[in-house]
Amino acid sequence: MKPTITVALTGASGMPYGFRLVETLIRAEAQVYLLYSQAAHVVAKQGQLRVFGREDWFAPVASGSNPPDAMVICPCTVGTLAAVATGLSDSLIERAADVTLKEGRKLILVPRETPFSALHLENMLKLARAGVVILPANPGFYHHPKRIEDLVDFVVARVLDHLGIRHDLMRRWGEER
Ligand SMILES: Cc1cc2nc3c(=O)[nH]c(=O)nc-3n(C[C@H](O)[C@H](O)[C@H](O)COP(=O)(O)O)c2cc1C
Repeated sequence: MKPTITVALTGASGMPYGFRLVETLIRAEAQVYLLYSQAAHVVAKQGQLRVFGREDWFAPVASGSNPPDAMVICPCTVGTLAAVATGLSDSLIERAADVTLKEGRKLILVPRETPFSALHLENMLKLARAGVVILPANPGFYHHPKRIEDLVDFVVARVLDHLGIRHDLMRRWGEER
């Protein structure tokens, strides 16, 4: 069965990570629920893509009775990260993250900020201890990137690995060239 993945885009610089993730999930035939914060301003419609706004409280992801297989916030602002860490649930993204956590589903946050303050790090530690995967938009260089897309794919490939979704975005460490 194809997985259902919630992807939330928030207003951090690094939107290409989120777009590439959605594109790759759709290519992998996952059902995607797309949430976007006001700061993200993204609206798109495709067959496998359902888009929900900030206060779409009737969206399936707003309730534990209909949880997705996993949720990714990519990119994730440190503001949204703080809200998730405190269980604020003031927007659909925050509520969906809270539901994902309480239902014991996989939650992945892709923060894009540098440097991190002590508050950011405390929030991330709290979330990591609650089982959230903190996967910063922090591409490596050992794959000898030639284009910006190669850097984007590095991060998106790590997210897909954590979702258990097969992809061919990158050669894996130790694989023959
Ligand atoms: C051009 C621009 C770039 C931004 N980049 C980042 C960023 O990389 N990381 C971050 O945490 N916040 C960033 N912000 C700040 C967030 O957009 C802001 O805190 C916003 O309130 C977050 O709301 P949201 O989490 O609901 O999207 C940026 C803001 C602007 C206008």
